[in-house]
Amino acid sequence: MSNLDIKAFVFDAYGTLFDVHSVIDKCNELFPEKGEEISQLWRQKQLEYSFLRQLMGTYKTFYSITKDALYYACVQIGVDLSDEKEKKLLDSYLELAHYEEVEGVLGELKSYQTAIFSNGSLDMLIPLVEQSSFGHLLDEVLTVDEVKQYKPTPMSYQLVLQKLGVKREEVLFMSSNPWDIAGASNFGFNTAWINRQDRVMDELGVKPHFVYKDLNGIVEHKS
Ligand code: LAC
Repeated sequence: MSNLDIKAFVFDAYGTLFDVHSVIDKCNELFPEKGEEISQLWRQKQLEYSFLRQLMGTYKTFYSITKDALYYACVQIGVDLSDEKEKKLLDSYLELAHYEEVEGVLGELKSYQTAIFSNGSLDMLIPLVEQSSFGHLLDEVLTVDEVKQYKPTPMSYQLVLQKLGVKREEVLFMSSNPWDIAGASNFGFNTAWINRQDRVMDELGVKPHFVYKDLNGIVEHKS
């Protein structure tokens, strides 16, 4: 039991609720034995491009960035990404596997506001949530595309307050991405780092308020 007065549990999507590397099987099917390499470089470049486009002021949707990152990864690794294979891989991003504890944890939070807040654009988030088993347990799916500002900019997290009608201190924000936790802590949310890969927190001048191996630990913040 924590002494916080949480009114909204807000979740990052990719890496936190959904496993971005569940595309490895499809990558291996199309490019045998290259799946892990493609998936890792794809995710790395997807994030890099969101950060760089934010800094350059050349915003475009996360779906189009995801497409560009896939193209880069395939050229860099030396595989031929035909239109058909590109469509199959991008479609696999719309049906990522979710982590096994998500539905049970969301089921514990029915008396709270629950939302996704993601860099993902709705053309990729809505199909993803609809094919999951827990879409009915989420009150909102929020995208930075509404303000054209990528996380971890403070302006992006501000959207959560506007949409949910809560104060910063009433939000518990979950992400597996250290840079996202740093951004949310910097903005003033209570933060729970879902450290699935047992990583070291980035040196960004802010620390998570709580660290858990998976989402199960966050239910201690129910009041
Ligand atoms: C998200 C990715 C960037 O915002 O983790 O869901």
